[in-house]
Amino acid sequence: MSETVKLIVEGQEYEFPVITGTEGEKAIDISKLRDLTGHITLDIGFKNTGSTKSAITFLDGEEGILHHRGYSIEDLAEHASFLEVSYLLLYGKLPNATEYAEFQSAIREHTLANEGLEAMFKAFPTGSHPMGQLSSMVAALGLYYPKALNPHRSEEAINRTIIRLMAKMPTICAMIYKKRNGHPTVYPKNSLDYVANYLNMTFGQVTMPEYEPDPVLVSAMNKLLILHADHEQNCSASTVRVVGSSQSNLYSSISAGISALWGPLHGGANQEVLEMLEQIQNDGGDVQKWINKAKDKNDPFRLMGFGHRVYKNFDPRAKIIKKACDDVLAKLGVNDPVLEIAKQLEEAALTDPYFVERKLFPNVDFYSGIIYRAMGFPTDFFTVLFSMGRLPGWISQWQEMRKEKQPIARPRQIYTGETPRAYVHMKDRD
Ligand code: CMC
Repeated sequence: MSETVKLIVEGQEYEFPVITGTEGEKAIDISKLRDLTGHITLDIGFKNTGSTKSAITFLDGEEGILHHRGYSIEDLAEHASFLEVSYLLLYGKLPNATEYAEFQSAIREHTLANEGLEAMFKAFPTGSHPMGQLSSMVAALGLYYPKALNPHRSEEAINRTIIRLMAKMPTICAMIYKKRNGHPTVYPKNSLDYVANYLNMTFGQVTMPEYEPDPVLVSAMNKLLILHADHEQNCSASTVRVVGSSQSNLYSSISAGISALWGPLHGGANQEVLEMLEQIQNDGGDVQKWINKAKDKNDPFRLMGFGHRVYKNFDPRAKIIKKACDDVLAKLGVNDPVLEIAKQLEEAALTDPYFVERKLFPNVDFYSGIIYRAMGFPTDFFTVLFSMGRLPGWISQWQEMRKEKQPIARPRQIYTGETPRAYVHMKDRD
């Protein structure tokens, strides 16, 4: 017999089904709650609310588990390439050799971005944040493919849009980097793989065609992209689904996801981590002073890169990335004073009862920022790299939402404003 729960509302008993996921997760299905009882649920910040069923990513915050389509993040980060993981997220299975070759070659065919996009950079004020540029550029990219704005096209046409987005994202990210430096863009070099091509477009020069991306950086970047590829119903993935649920097109849904990721409590934390470390260093390097500030409830300062909404023991991505971070720093021979501060902060926070009791430990953004800095990326570019990694996740969330014909997202509310009152003419107002 299937499990149910009973709810007594104003003296009357109602029964609601319990839904069990393949990993044993349980949810009370309250989709009929309002019809039956006239009540809604209130869950500000959706801390207890499942917004969808999903077969893409499984995450157990208590145990520190992250699986994509059943494969552990540890295995994927160790053995797979970013494009393999992207294929897995997008199409539900790891590609065989033929499928992988076809996927790579389809992406290679679409790496060029329309030259018209170059003109948009002239309109951005000097110093514009790269995430604002990226969100605008991805929305603008869609305008070059007007037919793709219709989400009801054939699966083949939708897949072409997916491939275009995957292919042009690194090109656009690299263009943003080049334009802010006032340098000419480096065109895609399709003999390189996805990650090396991106690094070439970013750090290569048109005057230096012999530039070869360092394999250590290619491998670290590959790992970072994999670790960011999807994270189930987080703020930006939910945004992509919510925007997509109005049957808005894929480009604008992804552009909205990029905007959501930009925030410092989400992907923007990787930029904030480095800025915080620099601030502590410029302030004399007294780590304890900043820990005390983070603990002070009257002080808005938080330790950026610490804590997570769902991971309450450890962030499995942080474990993998910490090792990658150590490898990259050792191989590049980086000797950066902010890293010393990062180490002290990590140590102090992991032993301080305030952080221990609240289960606040370094998250993925704490280490990713450190690696990106060592690789030579400017601080405000870190979240762009996160976006590149998250793209296949966002697309697969959008695809699942679309294929399952999910209704338009439209939460309810509890109104706490004024009750009805008569209009007061201006001459009679206080
Ligand atoms: N520094 C100091 N105190 C903190 C921190 C922090 N980084 N994070 C949480 N707390 C405290 C918070 O003040 C609260 O204390 P109390 O119970 O005494 O009121 C308690 O810990 C619980 O915090 P919360 O804000 O209710 O937790 P949340 O689940 O709503 O927020 C979070 C999660 C990630 C937004 C938060 O931990 C935070 O702001 N961290 C810093 C930003 C950051 O690193 N974000 C990146 C997250 S990982 C990348 C991603 O997936 O987006």
